[in-house]
Amino acid sequence: MTNVTSPIVLVSNRGPLSFSETDGQLVAKRGAGGLVSGLAPLVVGTDTMWIAAALSDGDRAAAAEGVIAAEGMRVRTLAIDPTVLRQAYDIICNATLWFLHHGLHDLSRRPLIDDGWLEAWASYRTYNEAFAEVVATDAPANATVLVQDYHLALLGPMLRTARPDVTTVHFSHTPFAPPMLMRVMPHDAATELLEGMAGHDVCGFHSARWAADFVASCEDVLGHTPATFVAPLAPDAEDIGAVASGAACEAAVTELDDHLGERQLILRVDRIELSKNLLRGFRAYDLMLSNRPDLRGSVIFRALGYPSREGLPEYLAYRQEVESLADVINRRWGFDGWSPIELDLSDNFPRSVAHLRRYDVLLVNPIRDGLNLVAKEGPLVNERHGSVILSREAGIHDEMADVVLSVNPYDIAAQAAALATALDRSSAERATAAAALDIVARERDPGDWLDDQLAAARSARR
Ligand code: G6P
Repeated sequence: MTNVTSPIVLVSNRGPLSFSETDGQLVAKRGAGGLVSGLAPLVVGTDTMWIAAALSDGDRAAAAEGVIAAEGMRVRTLAIDPTVLRQAYDIICNATLWFLHHGLHDLSRRPLIDDGWLEAWASYRTYNEAFAEVVATDAPANATVLVQDYHLALLGPMLRTARPDVTTVHFSHTPFAPPMLMRVMPHDAATELLEGMAGHDVCGFHSARWAADFVASCEDVLGHTPATFVAPLAPDAEDIGAVASGAACEAAVTELDDHLGERQLILRVDRIELSKNLLRGFRAYDLMLSNRPDLRGSVIFRALGYPSREGLPEYLAYRQEVESLADVINRRWGFDGWSPIELDLSDNFPRSVAHLRRYDVLLVNPIRDGLNLVAKEGPLVNERHGSVILSREAGIHDEMADVVLSVNPYDIAAQAAALATALDRSSAERATAAAALDIVARERDPGDWLDDQLAAARSARR
């Protein structure tokens, strides 16, 4: 772990803890999502303060208490006006920026930039100002402020004015919209967004590809090139190892083993999220079952998903489509005693880790993904020399290209072939591939990511 000299303040929309109130008592639970699971191990037992938005009633109750110490962390939740939060989070962050950064819009229909959108953009600014005010008040002198993700793109210039002593780093956990997509935003909003990001001392990305898209958009809209750095996050082997050896996980493995028997397990674990490409994953499996009658009945595809952003109609519709496609495929190929796809939306972390211990094939096929930690978390705990099929459009593919079965996420035939290849591997082939995966999965840890942030902050400040 890094030698931290200047105090650190982490800032993100979703915090590491979610709070609920039971009998007037606040109870803290560790939150989910890639950003939180990757970053939380870095701050446990340190003085780092984590400032995040209050996203539930429990979080709002916690906000009234100021800084809360729980689960080894110091967390300050920020109660933002509910209308401002909803407009900023739903309309700007999720329906606009997330879609542009991941190329998810059907541009013939969306986005609709009207008065409602412009009002939401003003709320996004207000939401950023609310964060800037709290950071300006709470950050210790000369702190390094690590701002996370597209929710908080405008903090840099605000903090430069309010707190010239602090160093600010903006880190994007997503890909970045190339100029062609950034041009979808109204020019003034695109300028404010990019100047906001460029107004941090330096901007970080998980992949050189996303940094290049950001630089190209800045050159297109602003006419200048801001400072960037590339630092992929990595899972914490110890953290996930502890869950993998825990009692809850052990019980789930026993149950899973009983269920699978001799059958092979294809696994995916994601948020129910348009960019994760669940539908093409199922279609690829469907095609594989059609091409390979011998595999019918000898494999189960478990998709563990947890619902997310259900305030957006696109996500509700996507979830329904995922559920009905799984049904169609199950009716097409299933028989008494065998359901080819098992879709499980109960969000249970030890159970997910149990599945990671047990998979034969892990399918990670996003159409575009900032990083994707699951592709490394799997190999860290898997006990069956399982294979990893990985989309070339995930940021983590930069590090893993040589050790995975690489796929174009749009190409269903290629994914069907990769599934069959992985299932057909001999035990010697599996062992060789797994040894290579294990080395790459352990090459970096979250501490390396933090060191990279601090090194980038230091050199930007010079
Ligand atoms: C991605 C984003 C994070 C976000 C997470 C969960 O990993 O990069 O910023 O927190 O998804 O999404 P949510 O909207 O539920 O916070």
